Amino acid sequence: MDIAKLTTELDQIERRVEDALPTLRSIDELRRFEAEILGKTGPLSAFVKAIKDFPADQRGQVGQTVNSRKNRIEARLGTHRDALQQQAAGAEQQAAASFDPTLPGEWREMGSVHPVTAVQWEIERIFVRLGFTIEAGPEMESEFFNFEALNIPGDHPARDMQDTFWLKNGMVLRTHTSPVQIRAMHKFGAPLRTLVPGRCFRYETLDASHECTFHQVEGLMIDRDISIANLIALSKTLLSEVMHREVELRIRPGYFPFVEPGIEIDMNCQICGGRGCPTCKHSGWVEILPCGMVHPNVLRAGRIDPTQWTGFAFGLGLTRLAMMKYGIRDIRVLNAGDLRPLVGAQRLAGAIIRE
Ligand code: PHE
Repeated sequence: MDIAKLTTELDQIERRVEDALPTLRSIDELRRFEAEILGKTGPLSAFVKAIKDFPADQRGQVGQTVNSRKNRIEARLGTHRDALQQQAAGAEQQAAASFDPTLPGEWREMGSVHPVTAVQWEIERIFVRLGFTIEAGPEMESEFFNFEALNIPGDHPARDMQDTFWLKNGMVLRTHTSPVQIRAMHKFGAPLRTLVPGRCFRYETLDASHECTFHQVEGLMIDRDISIANLIALSKTLLSEVMHREVELRIRPGYFPFVEPGIEIDMNCQICGGRGCPTCKHSGWVEILPCGMVHPNVLRAGRIDPTQWTGFAFGLGLTRLAMMKYGIRDIRVLNAGDLRPLVGAQRLAGAIIRE
């Protein structure tokens, strides 16, 4: 190679650089191009290596030429890098200048508990204060606990009062939370104060106030001198506390084989204010708290001596109470999986939790 050829080739490289610069729009693109031209395997490195092949008297000049061209190219690329960096900084500044910290933030939907759960927690708090323990029992229950131990033998007509889901294994889906009365008596004996929130199942025709699954809260208190007056006083306190207002109650005799006497406590319908609506079947009242004094046979089944102890039991309709509290007109809304109708109720439920 002679010096003339070397110079032409260096000219070509410089032209290539000049042509490429306008197409290099980002620092990354520039870096890639730089490596291509100035890198170890690039054309300039090849020239640097070739210097030693020139005759000794020409090496100085060749070396100077190659180096000065290399410096020029490096400087050109350097200027372009500065320009690109400035551009990027300008864009960032512009973005920062157009950021408005007073704009409202992105709205995120808050999660909340189900209205039934919210009321359940509220009731639990009231009863824990009164010295009750919270118990749970199985949803798949034996015939013994669901019926027999509760004074409902196999041929008893009361079995038809509760349409039952029978399972292939001979068990039932519990039709009420009352079987846990017996379980609690076996577990703790007397005296006893326990509260059992839980899901129940009945083979029902669905309508605005009937679902095949719903929640109850069973209450059981056994002691030396428990009377029906304790039960009625407690019901009034409980319902008024949960509704956060004085509620009107109606007390009627009721029949349940596991209590004697049995009573039904109804609350004035909070949806229509007692005028009559589909939720209260146009009666103005909702059955909310069936209860009574525990039947001696039931105490016996729970291995408690009925000559020593008396007790009361109630089976609060938790689902119905949640509907009354949050103004939910149709029970089917609660399990339908559509959150929209529950949103208002959920907000209220959230408010209770934050209390
Ligand atoms: N277990 C009854 C029901 O579901 C309610 C109840 C409970 C009645 C306790 C009296 C005492 O219908």
